[in-house]
Amino acid sequence: MDLYSTKIVSSGIYHPPKILTNFDLEKMVDTSDSWIYERTGIKQRHVAAPGIGPSDLAVPAVKQAIENSGLELNDIDCILFSTSSPDMRMPNSASILQFKLGITNHCACFDLMAACSGFLYGLNMANASIASGLFKTVLLVGSEVLSYFINFNDRTTCILFGDGCGVFLLTRNEDANPTSKVLSSVMCSEGQGKDLILLDTGGPCKPITKEILENEKQYVSMQGQETFKLAVKTMVHNSEVALEKAGLTLSDIDWIIPHQANTRIIQAVTERLNAPKEKVLSNIENYGNTSCASIPVAMHEAIKSGKIKRGDLVLLTAFGSGLTSATTVLRY
Ligand code: ACO
Repeated sequence: MDLYSTKIVSSGIYHPPKILTNFDLEKMVDTSDSWIYERTGIKQRHVAAPGIGPSDLAVPAVKQAIENSGLELNDIDCILFSTSSPDMRMPNSASILQFKLGITNHCACFDLMAACSGFLYGLNMANASIASGLFKTVLLVGSEVLSYFINFNDRTTCILFGDGCGVFLLTRNEDANPTSKVLSSVMCSEGQGKDLILLDTGGPCKPITKEILENEKQYVSMQGQETFKLAVKTMVHNSEVALEKAGLTLSDIDWIIPHQANTRIIQAVTERLNAPKEKVLSNIENYGNTSCASIPVAMHEAIKSGKIKRGDLVLLTAFGSGLTSATTVLRY
């Protein structure tokens, strides 16, 4: 039994200024703008400068979210930082962000790693902790500098990913008749598929060696087609389960935001759900796949452009390495 409901008070985004277009990639690997656009829907992506980490991207995004939110930085009880490309092994990126923002209230700080599904895992966990009374206000961050782990000699991966950050400020909804709330959530993983999207070097199991560097194995590798099929199947299934848990049908939903991995994945999910195209939001053209940042960025842009309004029903669904997957149905 939930004691409280969760309200998304505000959001913020940030992308590093440097843009890498498909035409730039044509000069780096054997590819073409038309191949990339037709197969993925991507035209450009942002990439961070050397030495910039996910916490750096989060600072301006959080400042944007705080502005006009009615909250102050020291109201935050917990920073939940989702990333697969943390600034460093220790300390966690959440604590680094706490320092960079000048938050002095000793709030809880931890990182969450669930690849492209990480932001929705974070949203579901933040909601549960607010619902139970554990925290009142959670800063949820999805931030990635995946470009650091991408081999820009490998045309099968370097065309897909981009860097970016999206944040939500979440708090206990104290409205007399709270409408904004998380209505249902689904979180899953299929460890059997753990090798499909892989970066297995650089840890205790496979420390970096000269041979690893010579063979360029310090980067993300991916089995694209298998990933594609499972992404579609899983996001469709989880969306149906989440709708059922919320006691809703797809026709009740105002907006669907799938993880921005590939336009063809988004189209296939749209078709299989039998969803009207105009309800399905996508900005992959401008950013590529920013992993766990993709959903909060797309949602922020839809709020700012006036598409998503207070009271709208929104379905968010993601899939990524793990193979993790998560879906959230919420009333904004
Ligand atoms: N430019 C030109 N040709 C290329 C490129 C490129 N960048 N990359 C691969 N090719 C070639 C291949 O070598 C192959 O050539 P061949 O037929 O001579 O062997 C041909 O194009 C077709 O390759 P496929 O891998 O079959 O291409 P596909 O249509 O599957 O598209 C892609 C590849 C875009 C990676 C697709 O499989 C995909 O998007 N998969 C989803 C993966 C994904 O989104 N992962 C992100 C992480 S998980 C997540 O976020 C969901």
